[in-house]
Amino acid sequence: MPKVIIDCDPGIDDALALLLALASPELDIAGITTVSGNVPADIGAGNARKVLRQAGRQDIPVYIGEMLPLGGTYVDAMDTHGRDGLGESFLPEIPGEFPEKTAVKFLEETLEKEEISILALGPMTNLARLFQKRPELIGRITRLVSMGGSFRSHGNCSPVAEYNYWCDPEAAKACYQLFAEAGKKIEMVGLDVTREIVLTPNLVSYMERLDKKTGEFIRKITGFYMDFHWEYEGIIGCVINDPLAVAYMIDSSMCSGFDSFLDVETEGICRGQTVVDSMNFWKKKPNSHVLTETDAERFMSFFMSRILNKEVEQ
Ligand code: RIB
Ligand code: CA
Repeated sequence: MPKVIIDCDPGIDDALALLLALASPELDIAGITTVSGNVPADIGAGNARKVLRQAGRQDIPVYIGEMLPLGGTYVDAMDTHGRDGLGESFLPEIPGEFPEKTAVKFLEETLEKEEISILALGPMTNLARLFQKRPELIGRITRLVSMGGSFRSHGNCSPVAEYNYWCDPEAAKACYQLFAEAGKKIEMVGLDVTREIVLTPNLVSYMERLDKKTGEFIRKITGFYMDFHWEYEGIIGCVINDPLAVAYMIDSSMCSGFDSFLDVETEGICRGQTVVDSMNFWKKKPNSHVLTETDAERFMSFFMSRILNKEVEQ
């Protein structure tokens, strides 16, 4: 499998996704780039480092990305992820300056050198900046797996919009348009499948029983997120969106879906909505692979076994 760059906005479920990616030998992580989303990109970069320390992988570089969406008005998700972005766990910061090099520059230089895959777990601002500047580099992307959007499921930050694409709809629209022009597809891991993935309190306490260090870290960062889900959605547990995108990149049989042309609304009350032309009204070549089904139990077994470093037959 080609090298992977993880572009993210950690973020509690981003942190769990990073732990899963770091525990999976199939993924050779070339670097982590952060983007403003759940929290500003610089706070996200500090959080990525906290996860790398937890996983003993501080060798992996972290680059700070775009602080503002293409459209300019930035709305964070600290109400869901906490003021620190990790559930108000306020874990100690990792000392040390970040590289001068920006996330977009790192993505650009890496793609100039080799073909890579990209896991996009936050708003697509960095990717849009890169592809608008260097559209020819799209041809060097093996896979772009994006957690975002929604086909038939309701939104999570408006009746119709999912947060990553709502936070920067101009960026999402640009990425899908540029992929269409390049004749390639973005694999969209949207709310239709990620809503099936609920991490529950008893799973977290069982993880802590099996592996105190990892379980304690996960308990510290997910408590706030679980409270949010109980208060606003009456769910006992929390929907962990981003780890499913990681699992799907590792084993694409984890989800199923269909190819379709897709566009993103950037105006009015449906701003951020993914308009999936599943009936091919517009007669345009597919620029997305939209995932609609997943096996939540199989994912959770995969997630737990990897995170707890235990071999389990899949
Ligand atoms: O809508 C869910 C997505 O938005 C996840 O990636 C979450 O981390 C936030 O970025
Ligand atoms: Ca995210």
